[in-house]
Amino acid sequence: MSELHTPQAGDDRAEDTDAVSLLMRQHGDIRNLFDLVEATTGDERREAFRRLVRLLAVHETAEEEVVHPFARRGFPGGEQVVEDRLAEERAAKETLSALEDLDPEDPAFLPRLLELRKDVQEHARAEERYEFTHIRRSTDVTDLASMAKAVKAAEALAPTHPHPGAESGAANAALGPVAALMDRTKDAVRKAMGKDG
Ligand SMILES: [Fe+2]
Ligand SMILES: [Fe+2]
Repeated sequence: MSELHTPQAGDDRAEDTDAVSLLMRQHGDIRNLFDLVEATTGDERREAFRRLVRLLAVHETAEEEVVHPFARRGFPGGEQVVEDRLAEERAAKETLSALEDLDPEDPAFLPRLLELRKDVQEHARAEERYEFTHIRRSTDVTDLASMAKAVKAAEALAPTHPHPGAESGAANAALGPVAALMDRTKDAVRKAMGKDG
């Protein structure tokens, strides 16, 4: 009945060939990490928050580098859709940097986290509704697959599962600010797209 295959959660093969499936799965991972940060305390919360921040940084950077440029020229009205999404992403980044300076045990942490969660989830819903749907309709399988490859290269910089014992607190601090991670993500994405191009 539907002319489009709509990948379901856990449909891993679709993620290899469809950047939209991959990004939507990351939206789910981001939701789960917000749940985890809210549900934990102490070092567990610090670790969950660190993973959340890394995934958000990598996800938004990949969208800015790979998907938004495509959407701008890919469908009528795409330019405005992308401008609206970028404004939401800027707002979320501001909330995120305010959070980054707080210890997760600080009483101000949770209210700000909830504010970020609201911003991020409204943004994700708007992307899925106004951007991803059109990309699926207007993009051929080759482009969806090459975009997926670039998003995967980005995701490799933000493992969604912890690696026990791999990183001490000092090593975490040495990972540096989110801005540095975003720069590394841009490099990884551009390299992946260049190889395809
Ligand atoms: Fe985004
Ligand atoms: Fe997104």
